[in-house]
Amino acid sequence: MPVRNIRTITATPATTLATTLAFALLMSGCEPEGASGETPSQPYTDFFTPIPESAVFPTDNPFSEEKRVLGEFLFWDPILSGGMNVSCASCHHPEFGWADGRDFSIGVDGMGLGPNRTGVLETPFHSPTVLNTAFTGIARTEVSDDFVSGPYFWDLRAATLEDQAIEPIRSEVEMRGSGFLEEEIMPELLARLAAIPQYADLFSAAFESAEPITETNLAQALATFQRTLKTSPTRFDRFLAGEETALTGPEVVGLNKFINGGCTDCHSGPLLSDVLIRENQPVQVDRPAVRTASLRNVERTAPYMHDGSRRTLRDAIALYEGRDDLGVTLEDDDFGDIENFLRTLTDDTFYRDVPPSVPSQLPVGGDIGN
Ligand code: HEC
Ligand code: HEC
Repeated sequence: MPVRNIRTITATPATTLATTLAFALLMSGCEPEGASGETPSQPYTDFFTPIPESAVFPTDNPFSEEKRVLGEFLFWDPILSGGMNVSCASCHHPEFGWADGRDFSIGVDGMGLGPNRTGVLETPFHSPTVLNTAFTGIARTEVSDDFVSGPYFWDLRAATLEDQAIEPIRSEVEMRGSGFLEEEIMPELLARLAAIPQYADLFSAAFESAEPITETNLAQALATFQRTLKTSPTRFDRFLAGEETALTGPEVVGLNKFINGGCTDCHSGPLLSDVLIRENQPVQVDRPAVRTASLRNVERTAPYMHDGSRRTLRDAIALYEGRDDLGVTLEDDDFGDIENFLRTLTDDTFYRDVPPSVPSQLPVGGDIGN
């Protein structure tokens, strides 16, 4: 269960004065310059919640270590791609924060890893991290025992992690390739898995059924593994829990500018995302509508935005310069402060094990240069 500590900020007389002055300026029609670094009038826990210590597993796919182990092998095994050369890890690799460090991803005709991966066909979207996907949706939903995380993808088209897992397998550009039709690939993969004794054993151990190698079970195992991939609480979480010295003064200024600058209208909750598609989103021209991005570990998952068009975190923040239609009045001076704050969301202790081999005996992760 996530802890929801309430930390009430008691306004000092100075803060009250500054807030009153800012309010008076607004009322008189003069915009205050930049976003204020003053303590916001609401407690921080009105905007953010500490990151949960562990995932809530759905009742129709409860956790088991056997499922996790199977899911991990499947995640790294290129047997799931038509040409047996791409795995989930080709585009979601721990070295790149479980994303791939590219603007767009290269799937079936690719060689290499991350920015060094070469090939011709690219995905239409930037690969997001799969870390913390167990917590997607917590911003909008009270977490109860029947909480189901989601939805997923930039356009939110997959309701659950189980639904999501089948999509890259069916996608011609990501994993299927042109050698198989969409309706052919799943029967082909299930037959391949059944022919490998270690997979037959792993599926039997994970699922109680006479014929455990099914599409549903494949998706459940992948989802179970991914639900265990998460970042641990950072100094920001300790700050939210009431440890006032966990952030430095400049970081608190950045946090306050993030709130007073309107960022929390969309970037809220434990992942700093409401997981909604908003009308007034930051990247608008000629681009599809996408959901608010999570900002957990954002320092580790450059480049940014659904098209990877912003190379650095500073560039991503600078996108909001002067956007008063978003309710923000950020100026150059504010970017660095906000960046300092966003770096407090970084945790580098996340799981990054790479299995030494996969049951198919194909190269671990696919043609990624291991
Ligand atoms: C060729 C690169 C590639 C491969 C291979 C790949 N993915 Fe992805 N993944 C992406 C891209 C790109 C997106 C964003 C697509 C979109 O939003 O339409 C994505 C999105 C996701 C998401 C959604 C994350 C979120 O926050 O919405 C999950 C989960 C995921 N992938 C898991 C997997 C799994 C599991 C596999 C293997 C079965 C896999 N991916 C294979 C590139 C890849
Ligand atoms: C109206 C909702 C909204 C507001 C307000 C908003 N954002 Fe965003 N933010 C988004 C959306 C949507 C995306 C993804 C946009 C895309 O990929 O094209 C995003 C993406 C980002 C990213 C890139 C994350 C990544 O991994 O690609 C950063 C950094 C960011 N926002 C910071 C901020 C800051 C700082 C503010 C306040 C100045 C802010 N946002 C205000 C909706 C919002």
